[in-house]
Amino acid sequence: MSLKIAILPGDGIGPEIVAEAEKVLAELRAGCGFDAEFEHARVGGTAYEAEGHPLPDATLALARAADAILLGSVGGPQWDGLERALRPEQALLALRAELGLFANLRPAILYPQLAGASTLKAEIVSGLDLMIVRELTGGIYFGQPRGIRRRDDGQREGFNTLLYSEHEIERIGRSAFAIAQKRAGRLCSVDKANVLECSELWREVMNRLAGDYPDVELSHMYVDNAAMQLVRAPKQFDVMVTSNMFGDILSDAAAMLTGSIGMLPSASLDASGKGMYEPIHGSAPDIAGQGVANPLATILSVAMLLRYSLDEAALASRVETAVGDVLDRGLRTADIAAAGEQAVSTSAMGDAVVAALRAAQ
Ligand code: IPM
Ligand code: MG
Repeated sequence: MSLKIAILPGDGIGPEIVAEAEKVLAELRAGCGFDAEFEHARVGGTAYEAEGHPLPDATLALARAADAILLGSVGGPQWDGLERALRPEQALLALRAELGLFANLRPAILYPQLAGASTLKAEIVSGLDLMIVRELTGGIYFGQPRGIRRRDDGQREGFNTLLYSEHEIERIGRSAFAIAQKRAGRLCSVDKANVLECSELWREVMNRLAGDYPDVELSHMYVDNAAMQLVRAPKQFDVMVTSNMFGDILSDAAAMLTGSIGMLPSASLDASGKGMYEPIHGSAPDIAGQGVANPLATILSVAMLLRYSLDEAALASRVETAVGDVLDRGLRTADIAAAGEQAVSTSAMGDAVVAALRAAQ
């Protein structure tokens, strides 16, 4: 039985960048003995327009049935005024929750060719290889109760609940320790234990787990300091583990260390390794449809998909090497082009990765 990959292009630049990732998948199928079926479905604002809901039943069913999911991006200003339940972002949150994708891996790797593209000095970021492990199905994103209500004095108030069960902390902690074991063996848990009880429990659980991973060196850092350290001396980190919202924020900061948020892939995994793969950037409505978006984060998400869900580490490495090759050759989309450097289009970048894959066979 062949593997099934669900492809959900989504909104904004999503369809353009996913199209390039599909060229890479097609090349792997044609030339590298990779066997998989691809099936497409709508998600986000595009799905709302066509089917009245950002996550149609058929899309969720396909995502459940697939071995892995490749997603572009969702969202756009035209849908910001919709009631919350119908907004594109809800599709993403529902996919994460429904599929139990609690472990979000966001690697921030600086390609040496792009050291000059970072807004930080090259010596601060060169050689950066950091993995952020973000809890993805709990915390303040999902805690109940939540809402906007009117108080007795007539004022409205908005409220959300930051909540983590010990079990939720333990399972993301174990994922992070296991990843640190396979890397440099250093894990930094990021919390706000000086203020939040939820973080106090988080820290306690991480400390308890550390006993099971004697080969991993665990440290703790408050999130405000972690944000500062990320831009001061990011190479001090190997693996960071943190809650849903802290991870959302820190991973955007980490992305920028690498020159462009257009370079960073992500994997969201369930307990058995099934996953959804997406670039960490958003739908970039301001540049959608212009053919200028960087498809490399999505192409690198394909590499993660091959490695984590399909057990195809060798193919994953080939895709990553092909990306390195096109950067070596000096190809740059606008987001990673230096001042005065000629930028290539989205599809030229995708074609170049395919050509590099083919040349390496
Ligand atoms: C991300 C995004 C999402 C999040 C949004 C689009 C809901 O920012 O994947 O980082 O906050 O998780
Ligand atoms: Mg985010």
